[in-house]
Amino acid sequence: MSKFTKIISSGSYLPEKILTNKELESIVDTTDEWITERTGIKERRVSSDDETSVDMAYQASIDAINKSGLKKDEIGAIFLATCTPERKFPSTAVLLQNRLNIKNAFSVDLNAACTGFVYALDIAKKYIESKQVKYALVVGTEKITSLLDWTDRNTCVLFGDGAGAMIVGSSDTAGILSSTIGSDGSYKDLLTVNTDLEYIEMKGSDVFKTAVNTLGQLAKHTLELNNLEQGQLDWLVPHQANERIILAIAKKISLSHDKIIITVNKHGNTSAASIPLAFDDANTKNTFKSGDYIMMEAFGAGFTWGSILLRF
Ligand code: UT7
Repeated sequence: MSKFTKIISSGSYLPEKILTNKELESIVDTTDEWITERTGIKERRVSSDDETSVDMAYQASIDAINKSGLKKDEIGAIFLATCTPERKFPSTAVLLQNRLNIKNAFSVDLNAACTGFVYALDIAKKYIESKQVKYALVVGTEKITSLLDWTDRNTCVLFGDGAGAMIVGSSDTAGILSSTIGSDGSYKDLLTVNTDLEYIEMKGSDVFKTAVNTLGQLAKHTLELNNLEQGQLDWLVPHQANERIILAIAKKISLSHDKIIITVNKHGNTSAASIPLAFDDANTKNTFKSGDYIMMEAFGAGFTWGSILLRF
């Protein structure tokens, strides 16, 4: 068994088109002030009509592969999180594998909604540690705006498109220290895609409360599991759904604001892409230092949830 799974590199892709809160004011009955105060979102990216989750995943993956210094064919597995696949089948992961022209890998999609990337990283970790795979490509990609009802102000102001990717491999010195995932399908109707119209429907305040409670407990549990005091955590890279949710969780573990990576203001909620996008945003600025303790945590439809603690 290898001791740890290490993040070797990260990459990201955001569509060109920026949709601001001001522009949304002319689409639905909302205001920049309401969206900013209740969510922290100022703008989000929207993919073009012909841009798919595979197209975005491809760009983010190339970015991560280039930064890793690896050759594409050294990648033994692709774990791709999405709830907006390009096709029902074959999987988005297989379509990405083909686009990348990677031959000696297996590829699979995971759908855990907004928690998808944490699930994908959890599974990659197991393959790396058991030495069944040497290097894996882990991707979160979403064309989530394709599931929006642009007449529903409760949902259409919240989401954005994008993709993030990581290359992971084994390390004897540092990497993922713990990974915890969970789900409870009895909450299936609080955040769902209407099967007739294919639009997102959400009981926002119920999701909000459960997210804060679940992730608050999970963050504390994750620190305890790793014998870390609250003050020892260097960075929180949370799922970016709502800045108020993020700050409420940080408060529960007494984490100061300057230790939280926040991108929800410019990305909105990009579902499974949000954590790798936030991670890469910080990583590109060399925010993380060797030895830093970093926690990622996410909550999504299902409900699903997960947290990962790593030593950078
Ligand atoms: O990523 C997966 C997990 N997803 C989440 O974590 C999202 C969780 N939920 C949330 O982030 C928040 O609940 C929302 C941002 C969706 C809503 O914020 P809230 O503070 O919980 O507001 P609310 O749902 O209680 O609604 C308050 C009011 C309502 O008006 P009334 O009924 O009080 O008159 C809404 O109709 O705000 C109204 N409202 C809006 N007003 C202007 C809802 N959306 C908008 C809008 N613009 N876009």
